[in-house]
Amino acid sequence: MKAIVNHQYGSPDVLQLAEVEKPTPKDNEVLVQIHAVSINGSDWEGLRGKPLYARLGGLRRPSNPILGSDIAGRVVTVGRNVSQFQSGDEVFGETSGYHGGFAEFASAPEKLLAHKPAGLTFEEAACIPQGGVIALQGIRDKGQVQPGQKVLINGAGGSAGMFAVQLAKLYGAEVTGVDNTGKLDFLRSLGADHVIDYTREDFTKNGKEYDFILDLIAHRSVFAYRRALKPGGSYYLVGGSVATMFQVLLLGPLLGRSSGKKIRILAVRQNQEDLVSIADLCEAGKIVPVIDRRYPLSEVPDALRYVGEGKAKGKVVIEIENP
Ligand SMILES: NC(=O)c1ccc[n+]([C@@H]2O[C@H](COP(=O)([O-])OP(=O)(O)OC[C@H]3O[C@@H](n4cnc5c(N)ncnc54)[C@H](OP(=O)(O)O)[C@@H]3O)[C@@H](O)[C@H]2O)c1
Repeated sequence: MKAIVNHQYGSPDVLQLAEVEKPTPKDNEVLVQIHAVSINGSDWEGLRGKPLYARLGGLRRPSNPILGSDIAGRVVTVGRNVSQFQSGDEVFGETSGYHGGFAEFASAPEKLLAHKPAGLTFEEAACIPQGGVIALQGIRDKGQVQPGQKVLINGAGGSAGMFAVQLAKLYGAEVTGVDNTGKLDFLRSLGADHVIDYTREDFTKNGKEYDFILDLIAHRSVFAYRRALKPGGSYYLVGGSVATMFQVLLLGPLLGRSSGKKIRILAVRQNQEDLVSIADLCEAGKIVPVIDRRYPLSEVPDALRYVGEGKAKGKVVIEIENP
């Protein structure tokens, strides 16, 4: 099969279109012929090997040379322990370990897939898995966001942020979205009540306080985040620098307890139930998986460059022509 491979960390220039072995599904896996795969921040991090956690699968070079996690397509074969899917089913979901999706076929664990809702295209369904589940577990589970609460989403114009802004609005919050200058109108179009340009303003230094902060790209000190929370408020870190993660992990609970605030890391639990919940909201039209651009498989390097350079307003989707 055709796949985009990277045998070293680096810029999109290290990516190559190659012929590789089609994967064989394990007993608990499903082999999917991919129709669409969307790009996430984790693909850009996995390509560059930065931050350091992006090298968990291989310190010097990638152990799995195929990036891409959010897939939608049709089931080809199933492992012998798979009970929910059969050949021909339309499915969407995540590959294991966020790898294997920039290819004509990928195998994925049954528990990370779901039946594609009939009202969504393959491209729309491929937008949902990683970003949608992060948003759901952040806004609904950790934030337990209520009407009227002030919610800030840092990195709001990216894959997960796009879903988080819309979900927080759906739950009735007053939403502030933070991202670069070029994405502010996009944030407003998603429903953000206020926008902050991170290149001009530091949201932890403007005197405003929030009930809940979902941080998709954290790089400040834990003291700054505490300052931006209302009494009783909570902050959850999803991605960002390793230094900030360690601070939040080690100091967050202590600092938070002493001030009546919660400062924690959101370790996302990939699961089928949340995948279905967020997809149902998309099918009902309550949340829109906005697609900015579409590229063919051979142009994954350009697609990743577009995302990495901060230009994408919504999801970038790779459409894979099936023979
Ligand atoms: N905790 C977990 O279990 C878990 C699971 C999956 C993924 N993740 C992580 O989740 C993170 C977010 O993923 P994603 O797919 O939403 O990423 P993404 O699509 O790259 O979005 C990140 C957004 O943040 C913006 N940004 C960059 N620097 C910023 C700053 N200083 N202040 C505010 N915004 C800034 C980016 O814009 P620019 O274009 O200007 O850079 C981009 O719009 C990734 O780090 C990923 O590794 C965590």
